[in-house]
Amino acid sequence: MKNVVLAAGYATRMYPLTENFPKPLLPVGDSTILDKMLEDVDALDEIDEHIIVTNHRFIKIFEDWLVVASDRYAKPIRLLDDGSTSNDNRIGAVGDLVAAIREFDIKDDILVAAADNLLDFSLASLVDFFKEKGTAVIFYYDEMDEVRLHRCGVICMDENGRVTDMEEKPAEPKSHHVTPPFYIYSAKDIPLILSAIDNGCQWDAPGNLAGYISRVASLHALRMPGSRLDIGSLDGYRAISGKTLVAFFSPTGTTAAVAKDLADVTCGTLYEIKPEVKYTAADLDWRVKTSRSSVEMKDKNSRPAIVADLEDADSYKTIFIGFPVWWYTAPTIINTFIETYGFAGKTVIFFATSGGSDVSGADKQFAAQYPDINWKPGKLLNSYDKKSLAVWAASCK
Ligand SMILES: Cc1cc2nc3c(=O)[nH]c(=O)nc-3n(C[C@H](O)[C@H](O)[C@H](O)COP(=O)(O)O)c2cc1C
Repeated sequence: MKNVVLAAGYATRMYPLTENFPKPLLPVGDSTILDKMLEDVDALDEIDEHIIVTNHRFIKIFEDWLVVASDRYAKPIRLLDDGSTSNDNRIGAVGDLVAAIREFDIKDDILVAAADNLLDFSLASLVDFFKEKGTAVIFYYDEMDEVRLHRCGVICMDENGRVTDMEEKPAEPKSHHVTPPFYIYSAKDIPLILSAIDNGCQWDAPGNLAGYISRVASLHALRMPGSRLDIGSLDGYRAISGKTLVAFFSPTGTTAAVAKDLADVTCGTLYEIKPEVKYTAADLDWRVKTSRSSVEMKDKNSRPAIVADLEDADSYKTIFIGFPVWWYTAPTIINTFIETYGFAGKTVIFFATSGGSDVSGADKQFAAQYPDINWKPGKLLNSYDKKSLAVWAASCK
């Protein structure tokens, strides 16, 4: 059995977080949404290969992920670039499955899973149900919320669990049984899948194909043995990934602009570290030995006062701290900020801008000064594009 993962969507509801980074590879704990699913499916004896269908915009990010991920899984993983570059020219879930079948000449049973759901149960039960029924199979659960019900694929079944009716986003739902995006099709369904779109099957939502198969062949539904989290919104993602803070000190605005981009790509909270007494141009004059910045930077123990108005500091799981490089390192006001809030046990990453010098010593310096913090390597961000920024930020979590 092949595991075909549908990962080519553009997740437009989660912009800007997913504008430059694919939703399936968003970090969740020390893993990603996609890896959580693969960890489960890879352990199933019946599965002999994973095929991940992605789009042209994100193929490179998946290729980089695969370099590291391939060692983690027992079964081989192949990627397919569906050629689309935006939501407007997307191929759709059914089109992507057809493309995978054609490209890899699949003649096997197929588990089809969308890569944007987290499950608290194994897909093993669906595989067992498939073996028992010998037809295509899906899960269902009961959706009692009327608003959500209208947005789902709704099914009716006979007493044997055979699907007798299936409608995507029905205006008048005939039941409360709804289907999450996990399906198994048998090898004998493949010719039907290949001709489905030509025969009127809608191409966009994966549930359309299941509905089509229920009409032209046979489909059985199994009650989902646990719950799933559909990561369809920024709030939903924040709830599982933990909150991100992007704090910055930026007396002349360069670091502030980078911080804004970083907050966009991490869906983080932007926070300015404000000195109690603002730095004037004279304060910043590094050529004058007696200027405020020169005096502060000469004294490693100086701790310029800040306005300590960061709310719920403890609620953040990941904290990015941005600053301008001063005298080859971080301004001491950054020490004030860290010591005010502690951040013990949190993941903290610095980013910086400079006139050209690097800041490579800061990683060691911070790790030595604040060993209770889980420091990840910081980065000088004098130039970047938003895509590489998103990839770096995701790797820091
Ligand atoms: C007091 C002071 C010291 C600086 N020291 C350095 C330095 O050692 N190396 C460097 O490349 N740039 C240095 N710079 C330049 C800043 O790092 C750079 O202009 C930065 O992007 C400013 O960020 P901001 O606009 O967020 O304040 C220094 C600037 C100031 C004001």
